[in-house]
This record gives sequence, C-alpha cells and structure tokens, in this order.
Amino acid sequence: MKELSQIKDYASKNSVPIMFDEGIEFIIDYIKKNDVSFILEIGTAIGYSAIKFAQINPNIRVFTIEYDIERYHEAVKNIVNFNLDDQITVFLGDALNFNFTEKFDLIFIDGAKSQYVNFFEKYKNNLKKDGVFISDNLFFHGMVENPKLTQNYSTIKLIRKLKRYIDFLKANTEFETTFYEIGDGVAVSKRK
Ligand SMILES: C[S@@+](CC[C@H](N)C(=O)[O-])C[C@H]1O[C@@H](n2cnc3c(N)ncnc32)[C@H](O)[C@@H]1O
Repeated sequence: MKELSQIKDYASKNSVPIMFDEGIEFIIDYIKKNDVSFILEIGTAIGYSAIKFAQINPNIRVFTIEYDIERYHEAVKNIVNFNLDDQITVFLGDALNFNFTEKFDLIFIDGAKSQYVNFFEKYKNNLKKDGVFISDNLFFHGMVENPKLTQNYSTIKLIRKLKRYIDFLKANTEFETTFYEIGDGVAVSKRK
C-alpha cells in the first residue's frame, strides 16, 4: 500500500497543489470536535485531503469534485489504494455544474480561487442547519496582504479575486466568518 508521504512526493514532483499540513490539521480537528460525518470537497487534486478526512473514522463520507482528468484518475487510484472507495466518491467535472440534493456538515472550498464566491453561492443550500464552509488559501502565500510580492499579471488578478471573496465574506449578512492565520489562511463560515 502507498504511504501518504508518497502522495505528497507525487504532488510536489508534479506541481499539484495540496493543503499545507497546518491547514489540514485544523480541519481534521474541526471534524473531530464537531462530529462532522458528511463532507463535500470542491477541488480533489489527487485525493490527499479527502483521504486524510476519511481516515479520521469509518463513518465519514466524502464527496469530492475534480475537473482535471489526470488528477481525477490519480485520486481514484490513491483512494482505492487506501481502501477508502466506500467512504470517498470522486466526481469528475466542474463543481459549478453539479446539482446535489444532499446536505453536508462541511463544505470545503479548495478549487479555483477565482470562483470562490460562485462556489459559496451555489452550495450554500447544501449545508445542514449547523453546517459550515471552510475555505483555504485566503492568504495566497502572503500575497493577499502584500500584493507587491508578485509582478505576475494572472497572479495579481487572482489575488484581487481572493480579496473580493474576503470582502464578500465580511459583508455577508447570512453567514458569520472567522478567519484563521493557519496554513495558507483558512476561513470558517457559519450560518448566523
Ligand atoms: C488546491 S487543489 C486541491 C487540493 C486538495 N484539496 C488537497 O489538499 O489534497 C485544487 C484543485 O481543484 C481543481 N479545481 C479547480 N476548480 C475546479 C472546479 N470548478 N471544479 C472542479 N475542480 C476544480 C483543480 O484542478 C485542482 O486540482
């Protein structure tokens, strides 16, 4: 059986972005403390975070969505390798095109940064009454706070979109958001 460290090595060799350890430990702790059992993840990559969540206990179910076909296949392979295919379902396609009727305890937003507001709006009715959104990468390697760290035009555009998402969360009248300086910046949004 593959080790989780091998998945991390694959990610680093193939430039696949996966969650920072600190951020993932924060979510694992949240899952344990809040009896989370049904998770929707937007952005599977190669299955690393979904595997970490499912390993917490056998009652946890994870739906996870990935639109990159190579990453999707790698994720499915990894999940089968960890014998977690009865707990984790990977969906291939754009998260903005799915319509789930299920209600989740936790929706983890980790897809394209430019679409965070759209993911939030699309999936807010798929949260259980006490369910939460957790969003990752809100610091974007310190660049959201300090945009001068990059000269790259597409990165500058992306940072602007993340800033807009942060403003959207702060101004949201339906959800209360707490921002954590953990990993690459994590936000937890709960219905008021
Ligand atoms: C940061 S990575 C996910 C990392 C993963 N959650 C982990 O920590 O192991 C983001 C992934 O989301 C995928 N993605 C981005 N936008 C998406 C969308 N609209 N629908 C489905 N997948 C998307 C990308 O292809 C990428 O693999």
